[in-house]
Amino acid sequence: MSSSPPVAVITGASQGLGLALAHALAGQGWGLVLDARRETVLRDAVRGLPGGPHPAIAGDVADPAHRRDLVDVAAELGGATALVNNASTLGASPLPALAELDTTTYLRLLQVNLVAPVALTAALLPQLRPRGGVVVNLTSDASVEPYETWGGYGSSKAGLDHATRVLAAEEPALRVYAVDPGDMRTRMHQDAFPGEDISDRPEPVTVVPALLRLLGGELPSGRYRAAELLAGLTGANR
Ligand SMILES: NC(=O)c1ccc[n+]([C@@H]2O[C@H](COP(=O)([O-])OP(=O)(O)OC[C@H]3O[C@@H](n4cnc5c(N)ncnc54)[C@H](OP(=O)(O)O)[C@@H]3O)[C@@H](O)[C@H]2O)c1
Repeated sequence: MSSSPPVAVITGASQGLGLALAHALAGQGWGLVLDARRETVLRDAVRGLPGGPHPAIAGDVADPAHRRDLVDVAAELGGATALVNNASTLGASPLPALAELDTTTYLRLLQVNLVAPVALTAALLPQLRPRGGVVVNLTSDASVEPYETWGGYGSSKAGLDHATRVLAAEEPALRVYAVDPGDMRTRMHQDAFPGEDISDRPEPVTVVPALLRLLGGELPSGRYRAAELLAGLTGANR
């Protein structure tokens, strides 16, 4: 008798780190529920994944109806064991100083990078709890370092770090992680440094083994840096 494969929900899976992780998990036999806003890009990206077909649901993580769709589809697949809150926005490119950050942009940053991951996690808890599931929230060094012009994005990720710690305390049966992937050669990174040559930054696929370590659920809940996980270190930080 074959048991059904574990299911992961990955947001922002049409490119960059989310897509690289989707490839790795699909290759290991996971069932996946994937999203991104641009439907054609998402559909084309997901078509290349092993296994499947993997449901790809176009939508905005800041939209409560879209989040409900993700939760419902995960339930139809048997229930989620893992949630990777990866979708994220910089808000504006080039990045503005706090003095120039308009409140519309700032609210959008908080909706996408903080409110949406917390709300999606809450909605998935009934599936994650009975499976002793794992939540991985993608954070950034900008959540702890006071880089000029990174205050809007950085404070949204700092909020996500704190929500991660609180959720870990509230849900001891789960593993709840924040992970800083480090610089990666992606659209987001290019948008952060418009016009700069970013070809020296590592490809997102190099970070995937760090996420797979966390998804194994053996490490205690906490905040991790991918570089330390890749080096075999296990101490959670800050
Ligand atoms: N790249 C870096 O150097 C770096 C460094 C530190 C932390 N991070 C973090 O790592 C994560 C992955 O970043 P990345 O560089 O791989 O990003 P990326 O290449 O820009 O990809 C972002 C993905 O998220 C989707 N997305 C964006 N906004 C969305 C929304 N509102 N709703 C649903 N999907 C949305 C995008 O597709 P659509 O545009 O079609 O929606 C895309 O699939 C992010 O959380 C980021 O903050 C990245």
